[in-house]
Amino acid sequence: MDTAAPATATPDRHLFDGVPDEVSIYEVGPRDGLQNEKVILPTERKLELIEGAVQSGIKRVEITSFVNPRWIPAMADHLEVAAGVQKHEGVCYSALVPNMRGLDGASRAGMQEVAVFMAATQSHNRKNINKSTEDALQTYKAVVGEAKARGMRVRGYVSCVYGCPYEGVVSLDDVLRVAEGLLELGVYELSLGDTIGVGTPRQIEHVMVGLLRAGIGLEQLAVHFHDTRGTALANIVVALQHGIRTIDCAVGGLGGCPYAPGASGNVATEDVVYMLQGMGVKTGVDLDKLVGISGRLGAQLARELPSKYLKAHLGHCARLGKPPS
Ligand code: HMG
Ligand code: MG
Repeated sequence: MDTAAPATATPDRHLFDGVPDEVSIYEVGPRDGLQNEKVILPTERKLELIEGAVQSGIKRVEITSFVNPRWIPAMADHLEVAAGVQKHEGVCYSALVPNMRGLDGASRAGMQEVAVFMAATQSHNRKNINKSTEDALQTYKAVVGEAKARGMRVRGYVSCVYGCPYEGVVSLDDVLRVAEGLLELGVYELSLGDTIGVGTPRQIEHVMVGLLRAGIGLEQLAVHFHDTRGTALANIVVALQHGIRTIDCAVGGLGGCPYAPGASGNVATEDVVYMLQGMGVKTGVDLDKLVGISGRLGAQLARELPSKYLKAHLGHCARLGKPPS
């Protein structure tokens, strides 16, 4: 099968032929979104954010990370968040774990899904998880094995897929090595992270085609774009044209890795949902409810959030003189 999207549309072949009818939104706002904020939200507010996301129709939420609070102070309340979440049937709650200690915490808190994370590059792995790429894979071998033995599902992240803050250009071979390494350990899905938001559409095509040609299944892939340079939505369209069905995003456009200098927020959930709705792709997410959450978050974090849809919504409400959602 030729996995490359057609370069041009023809009367019989359209650029959007490969786009799925339905997409799963994987909300990372409570974790990626909040891990790098100056204002640390109290646990109660985090729980409201998670519940609000679920009430808006989101079925997959990354709620926290069981990492060292000295490294990521904003996630120090991971146990309280995991224990306090109101669980809804049919909703999947996940949390990042970097090692066995993290897995133990997540498991004690009743998490049924966790995510392991590492970069395609040595330098980012050293800075972010204090390990070489080989040591990270070795650590995760034990973590994923133990998680599965405990009946948990494990997701995997490959960071710095399109560029690294320390090494610059990243080769497809390095991405493949980590992607295949994590899949061999038994992660059910791989999220491809543009950690610093440098990727552009042709690069997305190059990586997607490279991974698919190496035999990685579409159903095993998700995309995770930080929108530092404004290319996230264009990149998502390319991923959709290749048939991607899972998109990571953060409400309000919050987010960023403290160990990836220059990284800004994840693509905003409401911007993605708005675009998908317009393209006729179902997400099951209520945009009004979603924008209500990001509006409140902006006030709680005392800053203007990057979401374009939120800005348009607030402007529209102000012009009409009506209160925002
Ligand atoms: P380390 O210092 O090498 O760990 O950190 P260690 O094993 O040598 O232990 C040192 C101390 O940390 C010990 O405590 C351990 O108990 C403690 P002490 O004896 O000194 O009091 N420790 C822990 N405490 C709590 N929870 C734990 C834990 N493990 C050890 N799980 C470690 C290694 C991985 C722990 C550290 O580097 C760390 O926590 N890193 C997390 C970094 C992080 O969370 N970054 C952001 C997430 S990644 C991201 O945002 C990218 C992503 O969004 C995708 C994308 O955008 O591309 C996923
Ligand atoms: Mg991220």
